[in-house]
Amino acid sequence: MKRGLLAFVLMALVGWCVVQSQRVARAQNPGAGRAPRPQAYPDRPKAPQDVVDRGKAVYGVSCAFCHGSDAGGGEVGPNLLRSGVVLADQSGELLAPIIHGGRMDKGMPRIELTDAQISDVATWLHSLKVASRTDPNENNIDIVRGDAKSGEAYFQKTCASCHSITGDLQGFAAKMPTPKTLQQTWMLPGGGGGRGGFGAAQPAGVHVPPTTVTVTLPGGEKVTGVMNRIDDFYVGLTQTDGVVKGFTRMGDKPLVEIHDPLAAHRELLRKYTDKDIHDVTAYLVTTK
Ligand code: HEC
Ligand code: HEC
Repeated sequence: MKRGLLAFVLMALVGWCVVQSQRVARAQNPGAGRAPRPQAYPDRPKAPQDVVDRGKAVYGVSCAFCHGSDAGGGEVGPNLLRSGVVLADQSGELLAPIIHGGRMDKGMPRIELTDAQISDVATWLHSLKVASRTDPNENNIDIVRGDAKSGEAYFQKTCASCHSITGDLQGFAAKMPTPKTLQQTWMLPGGGGGRGGFGAAQPAGVHVPPTTVTVTLPGGEKVTGVMNRIDDFYVGLTQTDGVVKGFTRMGDKPLVEIHDPLAAHRELLRKYTDKDIHDVTAYLVTTK
């Protein structure tokens, strides 16, 4: 009996250690443990399920009745899935000021949550998949239900500066196995995997150039390469000759310029209405 208890305690301890070391591994290598497509965007490492579950529970109690149980928006609160704040947020740091009363004049109440709880909510929001950002029931219904004519007009206005249906996007629909893949791909090509160059698997034929970065050293020398990692204190890159370089950062020194080929796509994600999405999908489906 006693021995059984000891074994149990030991196993729990080992389990805890494994979780901790996985956390460290993830922190050191944010690319590790990434889920296959469809994935959350912008590119995020897969979060531990217990954290996701905790965040979902807090959200259900404190936020769901205004923002919808799927975060897709309610009668009072806006859609959080395509919210610019949520997309730009890393681990709750942009949500905290809002939750702590920063938007009370606009109808978002002050809610008593700890930073740890807010971080959990953020983790849950970031774990939601691209597909669920358009319609929670999309798996069960025909997603090609928009108006192709309006979609064409929207495309001409919004996308034609970079794309053409008879040019680079010719045969695009034919490459997509399902309308859902098609929709996810045009909304965020490659699942945002371009960042850092070793992103998620992409549907056949979709090539997204990686994000590159140029670091200007104090002497004026410029170092350019595919961006591997960036945070407030560090930027890492791989040069075209394969040499990997890393630089520590302090404030705005050294000067770091990021060139994200999908910057326009990420920006647009915040602007689409559900109707825009359905219309563009209906239009692009006709380009087979
Ligand atoms: C009583 C209703 C209500 C509750 C409860 C509520 N919100 Fe809000 N929230 C709003 C409203 C209304 C806005 C829009 C404010 C504005 O226009 O800036 C908002 C805005 C936001 C925004 C900014 C969205 C953007 O893109 O500008 C975030 C993020 C947010 N809420 C997160 C949360 C989270 C997380 C919770 C739970 C901890 C929560 N809210 C609870 C009503 C609510
Ligand atoms: C500022 C430029 C820009 C705008 C605006 C833009 N895109 Fe893109 N798009 C890109 C880049 C860069 C890529 C990466 C692949 C490439 O280089 O062609 C891409 C990739 C794509 C792909 C994947 C192509 C493939 O190879 O299969 C689709 C589909 C797509 N965009 C659709 C759209 C739609 C629809 C819109 C408008 C709602 C839009 N884009 C707006 C720059 C843009």
